[in-house]
Amino acid sequence: MNKRFYLTTAIDYVNGQPHLGHAYEKIIGDVIARFRRSEGQEVYYLTGLDEHGQKVQQAALAEGKTPQDYCDNLAAAWQAFAQKLELTNDEFVRTTQSRHRRVVQAALSRLHAEGHFYQEKYEGFYSAKEETFLTEKDRRPDGTFDPAFGEVSRLQEENYYFRLKDHQQWLIDYIEAHPEFVVPEYRKNEVLGFLKNNVLEDLCISRPATRLNWGIPLPFDPNYVTYVWFDALTNYISVPAAQNDPGVPGYLSAGGEVPTGLALWPADIHIIGKDILKFHSVYWPIMLKAMGAPLPRQLLVHGWWQKDDQKMSKSTGNVVDPMAVIAEWGVDAFRFYVVRELDIGPDGNWTDAGFKARYNAELANGLGNLVNRSLSMLKRYRQGLVPQRSDELRAEAERIVAETRELLERNRLQSALIIIWSLITKANQYVDHTAPFKLAKDPAQAARLDEVLYNLAETCRLLAIMLWPFLPGTATRIHQQLGLSGEPNSWAAATWGGLPPGQAIGTPAPLFPRKEA
Ligand code: MSP
Repeated sequence: MNKRFYLTTAIDYVNGQPHLGHAYEKIIGDVIARFRRSEGQEVYYLTGLDEHGQKVQQAALAEGKTPQDYCDNLAAAWQAFAQKLELTNDEFVRTTQSRHRRVVQAALSRLHAEGHFYQEKYEGFYSAKEETFLTEKDRRPDGTFDPAFGEVSRLQEENYYFRLKDHQQWLIDYIEAHPEFVVPEYRKNEVLGFLKNNVLEDLCISRPATRLNWGIPLPFDPNYVTYVWFDALTNYISVPAAQNDPGVPGYLSAGGEVPTGLALWPADIHIIGKDILKFHSVYWPIMLKAMGAPLPRQLLVHGWWQKDDQKMSKSTGNVVDPMAVIAEWGVDAFRFYVVRELDIGPDGNWTDAGFKARYNAELANGLGNLVNRSLSMLKRYRQGLVPQRSDELRAEAERIVAETRELLERNRLQSALIIIWSLITKANQYVDHTAPFKLAKDPAQAARLDEVLYNLAETCRLLAIMLWPFLPGTATRIHQQLGLSGEPNSWAAATWGGLPPGQAIGTPAPLFPRKEA
């Protein structure tokens, strides 16, 4: 059984509204997943929902629903969202599924039996909104807590704690020895800085069932449910465990006959936002080590989007609704903009004007114009039949194919788009310089016109293959307009000369209609 390339995203809170930030992360994952499949790798792309916790319990209550009904309704909307984004996820995990619950409980039982947990009373200030006890560091100079924490009340509780102190040094050593574990590098440094300058506090892994019952019961004490983050992080391994993955410790596996034996664990990439880095770089590795499971290979950490330089917030109406953008501009324009605009790492800023400018300049006038005029001329001057092969743009195109592949293998998605667009620009300039519309008027230039038309059509074919991970629908349309069947989803076909002379192309049609700026 070959190990698949196993890629995950954060699982979104089911009670939130799907927004730009969620869409961005899932699209990054999808581009990586599609690229690797087009290279011939076996990939498993997992995304899903985080469904337990106090906020869900309260919201369900307010709507007069059971938490499960409430989650089921929202989950359907989230899955529709994933489809709209044209994600090719292999599974959609929900933390309320029994296969997930079983693994969380098996892990908790093992850790408890091995003495990783202890029970203790704690008194402090609790934020129900953040579902956490606050510390002195959360206080403002005047002693009050930030309104972002919502209502803060004094609470005394007995809970289970996970001993973390013994894990601090090996984790530091591990991160230092594996520079690819946290990417980009400045995020790795942030984690190391945190670990070296603080003593890790033990992690509270329970919540009393009297206060919160919408959670996974602790298998060793029914008076408690599991802390949502312990529950949520485990999703990454519960899906492989449910399929008896050989990389997962046996006691976590479903056992019995599970037909679809998959080798997934350890994950190759967890894609996450910067705000949840500590959970993934500190708690998750420690949980895994205690469970006896190997660690994931990489945390790929992206930044946060703002809109018009302001935090996105439903209450002020300052949000980008991906569904509305997609309805107006198409899913590929949306996928293109988010990946082209923001590199994986820094924070980004959405402006409607910036979106339209990229749409018009890069999609309509750049890619769309190139494909449309190349194929229209081929139709008009050569009855749509591909002429003899010519290699004038070959070296440039093959260089860009190779560089794009190399960049995508390093998850440099934005850089890959930039370099792909350099080929588009080059090819558009080639049309301007060779002026096929003039060549067409001079019968003595027929052979030259053949050359130009071949170079353009073949460049369009290679572009379709390179663009497929990013803009799957558009790439497929280019492929069809070239008269080729299927999807341009195989990197192996990205060698110059694949377009056979005599091939009848399809019907050229604009890919991105120009819109008023
Ligand atoms: N449920 C937890 C994650 C558990 S993973 C085991 C969670 N959910 S979330 O819905 O709040 O966020 C999901 C992902 O979306 C996170 O990676 C988060 O960083 C990302 N984003 C949420 N808002 C964002 C932006 N404004 N911009 C970019 N990404 C953002 O955290």
